[in-house]
Amino acid sequence: MNQQTNLGTALITGASAGIGATYAQRLAARGHDLILVARDAARLQQLAEQLKARHGVQVEVLPADLTKRADLLTVEQRLRTDAAITLLLNNAGMAVQGQLIDTDIDRVESMIQLNVISVTRLAAAAAAAFGGRGSGTIINIASVLALAPELFNGVYSGTKAYVLNLSQSMQQELAPRGVRVQAVLPGATRTEIWDRAGGSVDDLPAEMLMEVGDLVDAALSGLDQGELVTIPSLPARADWDALQAARQALGPNLSRNRPADRYLVHAG
Ligand SMILES: NC(=O)c1ccc[n+]([C@@H]2O[C@H](COP(=O)([O-])OP(=O)(O)OC[C@H]3O[C@@H](n4cnc5c(N)ncnc54)[C@H](OP(=O)(O)O)[C@@H]3O)[C@@H](O)[C@H]2O)c1
Repeated sequence: MNQQTNLGTALITGASAGIGATYAQRLAARGHDLILVARDAARLQQLAEQLKARHGVQVEVLPADLTKRADLLTVEQRLRTDAAITLLLNNAGMAVQGQLIDTDIDRVESMIQLNVISVTRLAAAAAAAFGGRGSGTIINIASVLALAPELFNGVYSGTKAYVLNLSQSMQQELAPRGVRVQAVLPGATRTEIWDRAGGSVDDLPAEMLMEVGDLVDAALSGLDQGELVTIPSLPARADWDALQAARQALGPNLSRNRPADRYLVHAG
């Protein structure tokens, strides 16, 4: 563990590129030791050497394909057993473009495996370990598409709605155990994900596209401010609070012992 700051180790999935690699830089600068997880071992190693030299922290590379069960279990096991880990950044993810009717369904399944199954298993492992110690932070990277299913591939936005839902439930469950859970909802951010999904980031209107450094700095500012859900581009926090208030107002009527009157008009 880094002796100067004692912040412990951050385990970052999807650390070889984009948002994950940028978090790695920022967390190393804050004094976290790091465990970097992704498939591209050479890229991870290069980043690790750079961060060790620049920030004097310890950086370990843990190559893994999180869609493969054996690799996923290795990372999960590390979270369960390494008491130096104080932060999980559940970030690795992929996107698929296009409509469901003509999609590559095997690719969609891989996306669910990565964006949902691996996120869930790693979150559960961190929750158990951190909860047992009474401290720790879990950051789950969702997307604003969790709130806008009409705008993009429905399965991708569905996976991100899942991450938001899971995060809000985890906040309730883990706060009493001293564990913080933050969901981050990026909008369109300049990373490789767009090209990997078969599109181009340059097709997006410039006013919609955030630079990755700005995104991560804002998300960490949200974390520092104690936010549970951070939407870096949303100007008015009150808009999110209003959405939550509207959702919670439905609560008393979501489960009752009789159908609503409008469904009884043809009865009898
Ligand atoms: N960029 C955006 O506009 C945007 C918006 C909202 C949310 N997000 C979310 O932000 C997160 C990070 O995305 P990004 O934009 O930074 O994308 P990115 O630049 O494509 O980076 C994705 C990272 O995930 C890793 N990864 C991909 N498949 C993996 C697998 N099977 N096993 C392990 N690691 C894997 C990649 O590394 P390897 O290839 O080396 O494995 C890479 O490090 C994702 O969850 C994404 O859904 C992004």
